[in-house]
Amino acid sequence: RTLDWSPVTVEKQGYRHFMLKEIHEQPSVVRTCLEAYINPDWHSQNSDEENPITLNLKPEIYEDLEHIQIVACGTSWHASLVGKYLLEQIAQIPTFVQYASEYRYAPSPMMRNTITIGVTQSGETADTIAALEMERQRRSSCDRTYQARILGITNRPESTLGGMVDQVINTYAGIEIGVAATKTFVAQVIAFYILALDLAGRRKTITPSRMEEILKGLLQLPTQIEQIIHSEEPKIRDLAHQFPDTKDFIFLGRGINFPIALEGALKLKEISYIHAEGYPAGEMKHGPIALLDAHVPVVAIAMGGSVYEKVISNAQEAKARDARLIGVLPQNHHEDMFQDTLIVPEVDEILSPILAVIPLQLLSYYIASMRGLDVDQPRNLAKSVTVE
Ligand code: G6P
Repeated sequence: RTLDWSPVTVEKQGYRHFMLKEIHEQPSVVRTCLEAYINPDWHSQNSDEENPITLNLKPEIYEDLEHIQIVACGTSWHASLVGKYLLEQIAQIPTFVQYASEYRYAPSPMMRNTITIGVTQSGETADTIAALEMERQRRSSCDRTYQARILGITNRPESTLGGMVDQVINTYAGIEIGVAATKTFVAQVIAFYILALDLAGRRKTITPSRMEEILKGLLQLPTQIEQIIHSEEPKIRDLAHQFPDTKDFIFLGRGINFPIALEGALKLKEISYIHAEGYPAGEMKHGPIALLDAHVPVVAIAMGGSVYEKVISNAQEAKARDARLIGVLPQNHHEDMFQDTLIVPEVDEILSPILAVIPLQLLSYYIASMRGLDVDQPRNLAKSVTVE
């Protein structure tokens, strides 16, 4: 046996594809990102500081804040949808998420005291940059309440985005080579926890003890992601062999995990070329249910919390149409109706998207890899789209 020491092989550190390596890097990416923005000495009881987050947001960005609007594309748009949930639920700020390519030609009427956030891992996506430029331009002659306040969430602070925003939140994920985003998605979602907690601390929209609870939960995520990879990866590798002829997949989620259903479907489409749709589970009966039969697997994301029973009952409806059901479930919630279960540690509902996405990334990776596809360079896609 000869060893292949080409630079690419070395960089892959023994993994078959960059995407798999990047999925495995996620515990350390989350750790780095949390370390960068959380003051480890903060405790709700004995700290003079009201805020454990060390984002150092500029006052002109958060003062008198009333709304947030977010522009993004692709996977970054999905991270932004989780972000909306966090900014609204934790920091009580009405938040609107827009596709950059739509917003740039049909912007919403201007709202006052609004932060606009551009989310782009590469910092170079043409539509996102253009949407932010348009926003800056149209607000430039307005009075102070309507002036643009622009934040960027990116993995490349040195990018075009980095140069045009008022402040950057760096996601510290390290270079991502696989075209399908994995670790940069998780890092963007972490950036939204940080931003939501920072604003919540300033606006006093959560109690110090709730703040501490969420922080403790966040700090456990790296170990929990490791646990999922360790226990579920072998199972997912086997499961992936069971869909050689499958043409369609449906992903269902609700609440904070609806965007994870979208992301699970997008990952599968991007690298395996299987048609997949992500749907809010409660909407299934308004259309997609007509597609269901024994040939369409349904992945139900049923994390514990407020919508658990609802997702389970939506999954029952799919089962009644003979769909093959795969459940993403927290430990100790085994439900007999699922043919396959992907188990993740039980966590606070608000933290669950970070764990729910991991088995879905692995599932799409192994299905594509089993089909012999070029996982890191899927056809027709580019890592960053710098043209309109
Ligand atoms: C491309 C990539 C996607 C990515 C999107 C947005 O379409 O293939 O994986 O989510 O661009 O990229 P950005 O760099 O703006 O996050």
